[in-house]
Amino acid sequence: MESFKQQVEEAAAFVRARLSIKPLIGLILGTGLGDLVTDMENARQLPYSAIPHYPTSTVQSHAGRLACGIWAGKPVIAMQGRIHLYEGYTAQQVSFPIRVLAALGIPTLIISNAAGGLNPHYSPGDLMLIADHINLTGQNPLIGPNVDQWGLRFPDMTQPYSRQLQALALETAVNERIKLHRGVYAGVLGPSLETAAETRFLRTIGADAVGMSTIMEVITAVHAGLDVLGISAITNVNLPDAYQPATIEQVIATAQQAGRDLMPLLERTIEQL
Ligand code: HPA
Repeated sequence: MESFKQQVEEAAAFVRARLSIKPLIGLILGTGLGDLVTDMENARQLPYSAIPHYPTSTVQSHAGRLACGIWAGKPVIAMQGRIHLYEGYTAQQVSFPIRVLAALGIPTLIISNAAGGLNPHYSPGDLMLIADHINLTGQNPLIGPNVDQWGLRFPDMTQPYSRQLQALALETAVNERIKLHRGVYAGVLGPSLETAAETRFLRTIGADAVGMSTIMEVITAVHAGLDVLGISAITNVNLPDAYQPATIEQVIATAQQAGRDLMPLLERTIEQL
């Protein structure tokens, strides 16, 4: 059996051989945001199913391909669709695409997701810059033998989201007149949504938004030494004392609406990198 590292290297070699440019920025597009990058120049598209060992998404709202081309004047590789722990994948499998991007040599990873708002000042359709996160999944992509060539056994987590990239995104949002909150993302396993009591708990421990993705990817990226920028599209706001059900249709529709602000924000931010 091939090791995980060998599988990553094989997948990265496969992808590298099919790209006409060397990407510098990785972009993960979350629920309802996968079509964000439709205007990429000279895009090469690779379905995940064609890439050796690559886990494929089972969620309908996620397209499932890599698109690589020039966007915002920069060589970008975008993951249109991601995989989640709740699909039954292990934390290590969820980290696989990030390892492949890291093996391609990208220094910067930009992650977007759809998230439920917990901060009462947030509204559906708002954007939140992720300042920090709380890992409540009970999982970690680094469990198992450490690959020393990739990173440290006990990676530092004092600053998982790059200060410089956060400052650039906030400044860009001001210049573009796009509302951008800054808050803490709590990552849960899902797929069931939170109870009212869990929502109250999450708010109490300091979370501003909650979602079912991102954390495994960020831990992997930090371990690999990448600079990370994370932005959540707030699709619903969960207030424990006035809690309303959120449907997946509503989440996707609101994420697409937030995407109309997220796209120019990402484009202008990437232009300045
Ligand atoms: N909870 C968890 N994940 C989510 C939510 C939510 O309310 N909305 C979008 N993703």
